Amino acid sequence: MSATAEARHSSDVTALRLDGLWVSRDRPVVRDVSLEIPANAITALLGPNGAGKSSLVLAVGGVLRPTAGRVFAGDRDITRRRPEAIRAAGVAIVPEGRRLLGDLSVEDNLRVATYALGRSDAREGIDYALELFPTLGRRWKASARTLSGGEQQMVVLAQALVSRPKVMLVDELSLGLAPLIVQRLVPTLASVAESGVGVLLIEQFAHVALGLARTAYVIEGGRIRYHGTAAELKSRPELLHSAYLRRESEAGGDG
Ligand SMILES: Nc1ncnc2c1ncn2[C@@H]1O[C@H](COP(=O)(O)OP(=O)(O)OP(=O)(O)O)[C@@H](O)[C@H]1O
Ligand SMILES: [Mg+2]
Repeated sequence: MSATAEARHSSDVTALRLDGLWVSRDRPVVRDVSLEIPANAITALLGPNGAGKSSLVLAVGGVLRPTAGRVFAGDRDITRRRPEAIRAAGVAIVPEGRRLLGDLSVEDNLRVATYALGRSDAREGIDYALELFPTLGRRWKASARTLSGGEQQMVVLAQALVSRPKVMLVDELSLGLAPLIVQRLVPTLASVAESGVGVLLIEQFAHVALGLARTAYVIEGGRIRYHGTAAELKSRPELLHSAYLRRESEAGGDG
């Protein structure tokens, strides 16, 4: 089997699929979006400010209700289900700018995230998170507010991962973090995907996301403007730039 055929084979399983999704806030902000997040890989979602990335994540997580279209986790239709049901279906979201409970320890912040799990699943989930982020084991009793920005982001990611999701949507991995810290989180995210999880990565630094991702989508004005391999997008930066420039030239407009 050629390397390409093998790569195609491992991405055959779709962890999450959006089919013609529409989401409104005071107006439609996600417009007819279809995309697939394969298991076993990182998929990048890029786009300028206000493009609808966070709204898409919140709609998948059940925080915002889509006005049309469907969301499938594997072959399970989870459209307009409640957030707990969506999480139970194996979909974890890391919303943009998620905050920890600053007074609570690392341990307690993680335990809060396992409240819906049975005792043995909770223990297993926490073991898994500590395997991925050994640093957190060393900071176990420290209160969250004493952690560095990078450590806090590890706890936020660990909170999503303790439930052993099949798919994880990460909204702005590097928000507020120094580039060096982001580079430390990157291998962990890659190993999460290698272990079989479908990861959707939203990231303001396109080179970080495209370095990790197999495929990429560009969203602008609520619509998908590009879908293809991350390698192609890297080699044709004008595809990305045009989406960002269009947004700037229409700033304040309705797209
Ligand atoms: N709470 C809100 N109420 C009403 N409109 C909102 C709200 N949050 C965002 N919007 C609008 O929804 C649209 C999409 O915003 P969204 O936050 O999904 O974009 P984004 O791609 O995540 O942007 P960013 O890169 O800045 O995080 C924007 O026009 C934004 O102004
Ligand atoms: Mg956002």
